[in-house]
Amino acid sequence: MTHEPLVLGIETSCDETGIGIVRGTTLLADAVASSVDEHARFGGVVPEVASRAHLEAMVPTLRRAAETAGIRLSDVDAVAVTSGPGLAGALLVGVAAAKALALGLDKPLYGVNHLAAHVAVDQLEHGPLPEPCLALLVSGGHSSLLQVTDLTLGVDPMGATIDDAAGEAFDKVARLLGLPFPGGPHIDRVAAEGQITIDFPRGLTSRRDLERHRFDFSFSGLKTAVARWVEAKERAGEPVPVADVAASFQEAVCDVLVRKALDAARERGIEDLMIGGGVAANSRLRAMAVERAAAAGVRVRVPRPGLCTDNGAMVAALGAEMVARGRTPSALDLPADSSLPVTTVLS
Ligand SMILES: Nc1ncnc2c1ncn2[C@@H]1O[C@H](COP(=O)(O)OP(=O)(O)OP(=O)(O)O)[C@@H](O)[C@H]1O
Ligand SMILES: [Mg+2]
Repeated sequence: MTHEPLVLGIETSCDETGIGIVRGTTLLADAVASSVDEHARFGGVVPEVASRAHLEAMVPTLRRAAETAGIRLSDVDAVAVTSGPGLAGALLVGVAAAKALALGLDKPLYGVNHLAAHVAVDQLEHGPLPEPCLALLVSGGHSSLLQVTDLTLGVDPMGATIDDAAGEAFDKVARLLGLPFPGGPHIDRVAAEGQITIDFPRGLTSRRDLERHRFDFSFSGLKTAVARWVEAKERAGEPVPVADVAASFQEAVCDVLVRKALDAARERGIEDLMIGGGVAANSRLRAMAVERAAAAGVRVRVPRPGLCTDNGAMVAALGAEMVARGRTPSALDLPADSSLPVTTVLS
């Protein structure tokens, strides 16, 4: 191939229909249609509603992306799609669309891991990932620390959450505080007006826990601690200082994430940390990581907030890397795998 590959990426693992188009590591289009408003009144994503919304949004979003990028679909060199993990019915819509495009255009198909795509997207902003590099992946359904060398070949998991994901904790605590769904961005906004006045627990940081769970996370105890604290205030008939609770909770989550990521970097002698996934959009996490990493001699890379939450560009970015590194494309009977492990980057 004489030019950098033009790759179209399709993302439908949850409630965002994303179509991204990249040429190599250059982003040409990132069209996203979200069904989040349709789920808000249920306080969480309703799988059937998400699948139907993907079906309705697929073709218009595809058209919008191609128009923005100024390409014809026949110009595309490869089609990449999130094959998992995610909601089964939602994944199926994207995988079916990708197969139809790959077959119709007679172009290779790459079924890629959504979590690895959250890592790959950073290359669109900051160029190739250093090898090795540490990835702190914090999203709505996952929280992991990964060592990454060649992302297309796999990842080396160092730790993960043993209960709730970081984003899940943000969403649950937001609900408790009466903030809308999804709660992460609302906690971020409200916390900016509050003070860190409450010392909430830092999960899996005691000496005993560190022996077994050095690089693992736990957020369900923190969520319960926040719930108890709020209940006690309400029982006493006192107003709940929502902004202070949000700021204190956010501080506890970010503190553990950054602390463990930098410990892992030190242990492995790795000097580059990338942070990806929806929670990487959090302003406090970004500021704290930059500040503490500088003191530890570690460089930090975080994509801009719009590329942290789900989108098609991240899938296209990983697909383009697959093409550039000469990986074998997926078969046309590629299945959607709702529980695809983080270690399977290409299916
Ligand atoms: N500014 C923010 N601060 C904290 N959390 C945030 C922020 N913005 C988004 N989030 C959280 O990020 C999560 C969504 O991230 P993402 O879209 O990557 O998750 P997902 O795709 O549903 O999960 P996964 O990637 O694990 O499959 C939600 O939990 C949301 O509350
Ligand atoms: Mg995601």
